[in-house]
Amino acid sequence: MEKIIELENINFSYGNFKAIDNVNIKIGNGIYGLLGPNGAGKTTLMKIILGFLKPSSGKGEILGFNIRENSITMKKKIGYVPEIDCLIPGMNGVALVSYLGELSGMSKQEAIKRAHEVLYYVGLEESRYRNVDTYSSGMKQRIKLATALVHDPELLFLDEPTSGMDPQARNEMLELINDISSKEAMNIIMSSHILPDIEKTCKNILIMNKGKIISEQQISDLNSKHFNVYEIKLKGDVKIFREKLPNCRIERGDKGVFRIQLPNDFPIYSIFKKAYEANVQIRYFRQSKVTLEDAFVTAIGEANAN
Ligand SMILES: Nc1ncnc2c1ncn2[C@@H]1O[C@H](COP(=O)(O)OP(=O)(O)O)[C@@H](O)[C@H]1O
Ligand SMILES: [Mg+2]
Repeated sequence: MEKIIELENINFSYGNFKAIDNVNIKIGNGIYGLLGPNGAGKTTLMKIILGFLKPSSGKGEILGFNIRENSITMKKKIGYVPEIDCLIPGMNGVALVSYLGELSGMSKQEAIKRAHEVLYYVGLEESRYRNVDTYSSGMKQRIKLATALVHDPELLFLDEPTSGMDPQARNEMLELINDISSKEAMNIIMSSHILPDIEKTCKNILIMNKGKIISEQQISDLNSKHFNVYEIKLKGDVKIFREKLPNCRIERGDKGVFRIQLPNDFPIYSIFKKAYEANVQIRYFRQSKVTLEDAFVTAIGEANAN
């Protein structure tokens, strides 16, 4: 595995508030998702990796460069789509994207040519001469992506790339991200608090909560891990059964099947005991396919319990 990013014991505080709490990660080639609730520290961690914020302790490398050095050579190899709006008012699409291309060292001519290419690629061909102030929030996300791609970086950071998008625009953006990762073979780190977005795009997942990386998952490994998730069918009063299992996540699925996630230390036979106490019958019972949500809920639950 080629080492793209490595962080060791990274800490960072805003004043007295500890936003990043001893983070250690190793990131290789491919597409990584940084998943976590709002306020988990995803944006702060990205800014530290990119050299915008200096960690109070710890060390790290990105593409072989020290994160504290804030190197220009390193920045030329990186594309960044920040969470906030970062468009220059009054400019049209082509002018903005080519200007940012020039800032990353391209000649004017080359930058203009690339601007047209990337604007076409992100689906803004028809609006490329419009003032960016008039863009919808979905178009703004797309042009931010174009500005991050203009210099053909090795590594792309996407901070909440689907924020403010309606479902169709969101799916198109996720397809674009998949395309960049697979066809362009670009390394990507994408943050999101939206679990399905991460699930649809990322093969490797880092789960973040309260400034800590609390879990690392590979989508392909989820089912080999034991998460105590079952599908059951019940006859009787489901409400009473639920009350007997206050620490379990129970979701209603299709055709009267419930999906139930038991805590990891919960012995499976106890569920039959609880059913008996609730006076319900279990008519069907089997281990269920594990989803990223199961892993996420388990990781957050365990982190909060500690
Ligand atoms: N400039 C700042 N000053 C003080 N606190 C901040 C600042 N930026 C972020 N925070 C706090 O740090 C925590 C992590 O924020 P952030 O990295 O933006 O999380 P996320 O991107 O996961 O939503 C939050 O509690 C947030 O309120
Ligand atoms: Mg954020």
